Amino acid sequence: MVTGASAGIGAAMARLLAARGTNLVLVARRAGRLEDLAGACRAQGVTATVAPADLADVEARAALARAHPAVDLLINNAGLGIYGALAETDWARTERLLAVNVTALTHLSRLYAPGMAARGFGRILQVASIVGFLPVPLFAAYAASKAYVVSLGLAMDAELATSGVRVCVLCPGGTATEFFDVARGPGAPGRAPGRMMSAEAVARIGLDGLARGQRLVVAGSGNRAAVFALRFAPRGLVARLAMRVTRGR
Ligand SMILES: NC(=O)c1ccc[n+]([C@@H]2O[C@H](COP(=O)([O-])OP(=O)(O)OC[C@H]3O[C@@H](n4cnc5c(N)ncnc54)[C@H](OP(=O)(O)O)[C@@H]3O)[C@@H](O)[C@H]2O)c1
Repeated sequence: MVTGASAGIGAAMARLLAARGTNLVLVARRAGRLEDLAGACRAQGVTATVAPADLADVEARAALARAHPAVDLLINNAGLGIYGALAETDWARTERLLAVNVTALTHLSRLYAPGMAARGFGRILQVASIVGFLPVPLFAAYAASKAYVVSLGLAMDAELATSGVRVCVLCPGGTATEFFDVARGPGAPGRAPGRMMSAEAVARIGLDGLARGQRLVVAGSGNRAAVFALRFAPRGLVARLAMRVTRGR
């Protein structure tokens, strides 16, 4: 099951998994895009089921799990960002961010991990971000949501260590997808970072890391170096420096 399969990293992961012979359940709100993707996946000889759902809705998540009770690989990829100071951003958008990035990811993990453990096999890929390692002004709630995902994923992997279920946290840096258009929202001044990886490259790195049994995968050598260096930097200073970068966007 790939969430957020209608665009970007999720769509790229679905295509790669289909090429590797994995049957798929594709989840996102835009059903038409999922249908197109499912067609491309089926052409690779796998089963691809479209499951349109708004993951911000608790009932939709429960219905998804009822319709697809046995999942061996859960890719919690659906997510969104919001550009702007928390005090000025629309609360409905922020609440949706938390519902998708935090609550839905946690709920789907909770729904599927028991079945995986009972069968003695399962893989969960939690898509976080390198911003999960630092406070990011003007992306404050987004970065905080990804810090949650890093923490949750690593803790879940330890909890499930003896069950045959492995949890891997993928941390992409800037990736060329629709993410920054969504994050900017209508009328906001943000722009995407200059250098970005492709969704295909990030998807491949994440799936390969998961297959190798890695707990934490940071996509790209520059991003890995940045995450390593952040361990030694005072977090308050990092936040001030990050503000200079995000203000320019
Ligand atoms: N792009 C980057 O620079 C970057 C960097 C680090 C981490 N990430 C993370 O990578 C993941 C994928 O993002 P992306 O870059 O591929 O962005 P994207 O192109 O905007 O794709 C986001 C996906 O999430 C789905 N989604 C959003 N809200 C949803 C909802 N309420 N219910 C169901 N699905 C929903 C979207 O589908 P619908 O709109 O059709 O529902 C879409 O398929 C996210 O978790 C993001 O935070 C991205």
